[in-house]
Amino acid sequence: MFKANENYLKLPGSYLFSTVAKKQREYSAAHPDKKIIRLSIGDVTQPLAPAIIERLHSAVDEMAVAETFKGYAPDLGYEFLRNTIVKNDYIDHGVDISADEIFVSDGAKSDSANIQEIFAPESKIAVCDPVYPVYVDSNVMAGRTGTYDKETGLWSDVIYMPCLEENGFAPEFPKEEPDIIYLCFPNNPTGATISKAQLQEWVDYANKIGAVIVYDAAYEAYISEDDVPHSIYECEGARTCAIELRSFSKNAGFTGTRLGFTVVPKDLKDANGVALHGLWARRHGTKFNGAPYIVQAAGEAVYSEEGKAQTKAQIAYYMNNAKVIYDGLKAAGYSVSGGVNAPYIWLKTPDKMTSWEFFDYLLANANVVGTPGSGFGPSGEGYFRLTAFGTYENTVEAIERIKAL
Ligand code: MLT
Repeated sequence: MFKANENYLKLPGSYLFSTVAKKQREYSAAHPDKKIIRLSIGDVTQPLAPAIIERLHSAVDEMAVAETFKGYAPDLGYEFLRNTIVKNDYIDHGVDISADEIFVSDGAKSDSANIQEIFAPESKIAVCDPVYPVYVDSNVMAGRTGTYDKETGLWSDVIYMPCLEENGFAPEFPKEEPDIIYLCFPNNPTGATISKAQLQEWVDYANKIGAVIVYDAAYEAYISEDDVPHSIYECEGARTCAIELRSFSKNAGFTGTRLGFTVVPKDLKDANGVALHGLWARRHGTKFNGAPYIVQAAGEAVYSEEGKAQTKAQIAYYMNNAKVIYDGLKAAGYSVSGGVNAPYIWLKTPDKMTSWEFFDYLLANANVVGTPGSGFGPSGEGYFRLTAFGTYENTVEAIERIKAL
């Protein structure tokens, strides 16, 4: 008789955002007259920008003509997109990355879950706490962790780096030496950032101990302050210790269109001198048949003059929402952070409520859905995340309702 992968059985409950959505559906079914405002999952609400839509249409037309029709995409991505990405995101900023180090994918979520495959099963992972759940869950599925302790909310064989108010929600070097370090800045869920000097310390640390940093920069387009790095490759020595994940979801509204990329520098080698670039290429070639042509063509349009201006305006729109949330909650007496270089606002739950108690309270009394901080890890307990990705009108209304509580 066959047996299921027991590692999956170690995972508690369902994926965080599935649980949140289920609770919302149940509440809506029981209270059909209530208008619920969803500021939970970081999903965009603005339509794709006109320059992107125009290119999507023309790419669809190309698919209707034999001469311009495209079958399988190259598994590492079309050259036109890889060249455009590398020029705009790296070379123009003085960052040394080449087009053949860019691997186009269907988004940063898949890449952040899949990247662990190219490391030895016994590798020790270090994660921030709270953390985007995909990094941990994907390692659990791969059998790289021990067991989950319901009491503490921690996995054995995982190194946690608590990100608390006391340390500005920035991780400190762990006592135990990790092999793989997951960092995400601007951070999901706290909205915190670290300076270039702080990130340089992480790069130096990783190079010193021979660890690799998986750097999730999905929210880099939201950075508004000067000293905050947009890419880990702005730091000296990052080519020998870092993989970077990027997304089109948050900077250009591709959450439903799916496009992202991962950077694996050729200088990144393991203890035996094996280049990870070749391994990721092998993995991509075997398990992925490329992001659709029409989506990659649309991705290129993000970098056109119109595309850049239009997506910049969308980001400004969401960051205005972030300010509405931040200022409104502050005025209502909440302790709030994030929202300046990131579309997430991280607040302390009032009256010593747990994160899930506050979730239920907010849903029942303000009909607003957010994400409980404890869903991102035990250090998120007593915190709550709201996103700036709603519409302006809904954001204003949600904050008015919260203020009125
Ligand atoms: C979030 O809400 O944390 C994000 O939307 C998750 C994701 O990007 O997959």
